[in-house]
Amino acid sequence: MSGALRRYWHPVGWEHELGPAPRATMLLGQRVVFWRDAAGLPHAAADQCPHRGTALSLGTVDAQGCLVCPYHGWSYATDGRCTAIPQQTPGARIPERAHLEVYACTPRYGLVWVCLEEPAAPVPAFPEWDDPTYRHVACEAYTWQCGAGRMVENFTDFGHLGYLHDGLLGTRDDLVVPAHRVRTEGTELRYELTMTVPNTNDQFAVTGVTGERGLQTNSYVLSLPYAIHLACRYHDTGAHRTLFFAAQPRSETESTGYCFQSRDFDLDADPEPFAEFQAVLAEQDRPIVESQRPLEIPLDLRHELQLPFDKVAIAYRRALTELLGQPAAGSVGNSSVGAGSVGAAELEPDEAVRGVS
Ligand code: FES
Ligand code: FE
Repeated sequence: MSGALRRYWHPVGWEHELGPAPRATMLLGQRVVFWRDAAGLPHAAADQCPHRGTALSLGTVDAQGCLVCPYHGWSYATDGRCTAIPQQTPGARIPERAHLEVYACTPRYGLVWVCLEEPAAPVPAFPEWDDPTYRHVACEAYTWQCGAGRMVENFTDFGHLGYLHDGLLGTRDDLVVPAHRVRTEGTELRYELTMTVPNTNDQFAVTGVTGERGLQTNSYVLSLPYAIHLACRYHDTGAHRTLFFAAQPRSETESTGYCFQSRDFDLDADPEPFAEFQAVLAEQDRPIVESQRPLEIPLDLRHELQLPFDKVAIAYRRALTELLGQPAAGSVGNSSVGAGSVGAAELEPDEAVRGVS
């Protein structure tokens, strides 16, 4: 997978699921181990012992917080230094090459985040996390057989909301996507649109709306490469619901989505229906997204059909192309981003299809 992705933070698991034993995961096609040190802080490293290539995730963590290999018992400190080779006579020098490759690792929002190289951007923002007026529900993580870009695009694809999620996120009698524009600023895409949504309170305690349908404004911040913050405002009640979503790119063909649903209404409500609502939506999406070919989004805009209401996908693919340092192909309109860095660009409502053949 592209080396540029190694410079961004990706979630690798829930913090509460990380106990005293090390855990294995995959990130960008690479085996990664993460574990807690003696103070409880998470750390991450290549899941491969420098001695004989054994998976360190099969090992243990000692009282000092060192990772101990299950094969010969060598141990590694959180900075990658080998601290013990029990087969050597006491006091013998530990060779410098017995060094484990370690990665930046930090806990945030109840998730463990890993960056495989010097970070190019901070962990994506989730401002409500520290806001006491919100309640957060961590939805069940889901692993799909697809690239993370497909997962992200599905999360933000307006065209399917009323069709695939008929009665839940929209209705089939109202499929026209409202006009909106996308602004690309650095490594973020920002866009907003107002739409009518069905009231799902009978099935799921989600909107707090009392009428049959409600009007809501959705404000999105898509943090490249694979995270989205969506703030929904319900016009009828003034209440807010946010979704924070981040995908873990395990490989080019497998990804895990982590999602929080947060609200500033019904604060004492049972969290279960909120999580269940997201699980129902995800299970409607999964077979569709896993069926898409290629498994990862093609960055050349000519490879799939782009219509004006697809402008988020167009802007996303262009920004991702820039981030990955790949030559732009099939660029659209006159708002192309410059080479070298992801600059600011705006895609107007009617601008999307120009230049795409
Ligand atoms: Fe890990 Fe030998 S393979 S200590
Ligand atoms: Fe969906």
